[in-house]
Amino acid sequence: MTFSSAFSLLNFVLLLPLLLAMAVSALRASPLDSVPDSRPTMAAGKRPLLQAPFEFEEATVAGIQAAFKDGSLTSYRLVQHYLNRIAALNPKLNAVIEVNPDALAAASQADRRRSSAGGPIGPLDGIPVLVKDSISTRDKLNTTSGSLALLGSVVPRDAGVIKRLRHAGAVILGKASMSEWDHFRSLEPPQGWSPRGGQGRSPYPAVGNHPCGTSSGSAIAVAANLVAVSLGTDLFGSITCPAGTNSVVGIKPTSGLTSRSGIVPISPRFDTVGPMARTVEDAAALLDVIAGYDPLDAKMTAAAAGFIPSGGFRRLLNPGGLSGKRLGIMRHPYFDFPSGSTEEKTFATHFETMKLKGAELIDNLRLKNERVIQNYTTSGQSTLLLAEFKISVNAYLKDLVSSPSRSLADVIAFNKRHPVEERMGEFGQPIFLASEETNGICAAEQAAIKRMEELSEEGMHKLMKENRLDAVVFTLSNFLYATSIGGFPVVTVPAGYSGSGKPFGICFTGLRGSDSTLIEIAYAFEQATNARKKP
Ligand SMILES: *[C@@H]1O[C@H](CO)[C@@H](O)[C@H](O)[C@H]1NC(C)=O
Ligand SMILES: *[C@@H]1O[C@H](CO)[C@@H](O)[C@H](O)[C@H]1NC(C)=O
Repeated sequence: MTFSSAFSLLNFVLLLPLLLAMAVSALRASPLDSVPDSRPTMAAGKRPLLQAPFEFEEATVAGIQAAFKDGSLTSYRLVQHYLNRIAALNPKLNAVIEVNPDALAAASQADRRRSSAGGPIGPLDGIPVLVKDSISTRDKLNTTSGSLALLGSVVPRDAGVIKRLRHAGAVILGKASMSEWDHFRSLEPPQGWSPRGGQGRSPYPAVGNHPCGTSSGSAIAVAANLVAVSLGTDLFGSITCPAGTNSVVGIKPTSGLTSRSGIVPISPRFDTVGPMARTVEDAAALLDVIAGYDPLDAKMTAAAAGFIPSGGFRRLLNPGGLSGKRLGIMRHPYFDFPSGSTEEKTFATHFETMKLKGAELIDNLRLKNERVIQNYTTSGQSTLLLAEFKISVNAYLKDLVSSPSRSLADVIAFNKRHPVEERMGEFGQPIFLASEETNGICAAEQAAIKRMEELSEEGMHKLMKENRLDAVVFTLSNFLYATSIGGFPVVTVPAGYSGSGKPFGICFTGLRGSDSTLIEIAYAFEQATNARKKP
C-alpha cells in the first residue's frame, strides 16, 4: 500500500458485505481447479523406479535444491512447469505481466553447471524468481511499473537486487503485476490494477479482485504456486498487505538493507525491496541473496550493511526462536475483532502458543500520537513523499537508455494522451499533478522529515525501549503508518482464515535493523502454528 491505504482499508471494510456475496458465488469455481499436470507420466519408464516424482505443489527452495541434487528434478523442468501453470492460470489471476523468453535457456545453463565439475555458481542456482514490474532487468523483459508510459523503455542495467540474484544463479522467470506506479498516481484505482497487468486476482475466492497492493502479482503468484519465491517492493505495506491478504510470507526489510538502485522509486528514504514466499525459510533464503551493499545506493546500503547477521538470515532459523522474546501486543484497536469471530479465537490461540513457546507477551500497548501518525497529512509524510517522488522518478527516467517518457511531466502528458487505456476519466492523476508542483526538499519538507523522526522517537522507539520489547505484534491495519514513517522492517506470516475463507496474517515489527530478530520470531511462530493452507 502507498499512503493512500487509509482509503483502501476503509473501502475494503465498506465493501465487505458485497465481497462476501461475490465470494460465495465464486467459491465453486476456484481458479485453481483447471491446472494441467505437467509432470511426465511414470509410464515413460525413463525414471528410476524407486525415485518419488517431484511434488511441484508447495515446493520449497530447499526441496527444489534437494531434488536437483538427487536428480529427480532439473531447473528446466521446473521452469517449464511454472510457465505451463502461468499459461493456464494467469488469464484468471493476472499475476504476471510478462514471462522471460530466456528463462528456459537460463535454466538449462544452470542444469549444465550443476552436472559439470564447477557445480552451482550460487545459493539460488537454477531457482526461478518472479520480480515486480518496477524492478529493472536488463534483458528482454520490460520494466514499466505497470504503466504504458514506460513500455519500450530500455533500462541501463539490472537493478542492484537483480544483479545479486543473477550472481546467485537465480532464473528470472518474469515480471509480476502490481498497482500501477505503486498506487502513487491517484487514490482511485483499485489495488492490484494496472493498464499493463489488468486487475490482479487472488487465488482465494473470498479475496477475489481485492488482492491488496502494491506488490499484488508477487503475492498472488506465490500463493497460487506459479513460482516458489518472488520480489516485491514496499514503502507503506506494499509487501505486508498483499502477503497477509494472500496468505504468504512477506519480508519488508529495513529500508537500505536491500539496494533500491534500478527500482522505479517513490522515496529513497523509505523504499525497500523484499522477498515473498510460502515459508519464512524461503523468504530468508532470498533475503540472504539480495541484502547488502550496492555502490549505486551507497549511503543507505552501507548504513544498513551492519544489520546483516554473519552467516546470513537463514542460519538464524530455529523452532525455539520465540523463547525469551518480549513481544508487545498492540491489542486495541488492532486485535479488536467481533466477539466469537474466527479471527478473535485464532489470535487468542496464537498468543497462547507464543507463551507456550517461551515468549513473554506485554499486552494492551498503545502508541503515543497514534492519531497524528495515522494521518499522512499531519505526520508530514504526504508533504515529503510528493517532493521526493518528483526528484527520484525524474532521476530514474533520465537514467534510462531510451524511453517514451523522460520526466514526470512527460508521464503526465502521456496519461492525458491515453485517457482510455490509463482510465483517466475514472482515476485521474492528482498525486502526479501535486508532485509535479513541488520544488525539491525545502523548508516544509525539512520540517516534515524532522516531524516524522520525532513521531518515531516518541512512538515506536519509546514503546520498544520502555517495555524492553524484541518485537511489536499487530495484524494488517493502520499500524502500518507507524512502521512506514521510520522505514522499519515488518515480517508477515499467514495466521489463519476468516469464516468466509479470507486469509489474514500476523505482523512482527521493530526498529531499523531488527530484521534478524523479526525473522527468528516469525519462523518460530510459523513452525508452531503452520497456518497456511493452499488455495
Ligand atoms: C516488451 O514490450 C514490447 C512492446 O510491447 C513487446 O513487443 C515485447 O514482447 C515485450 N517483452 C516481453 C518479454 O514480453
Ligand atoms: C488529517 O489531517 C488533516 C489536517 O489536519 C485534516 O484536514 C484531515 O481531515 C485529517 N484526515 C483524517 C482522515 O482524519
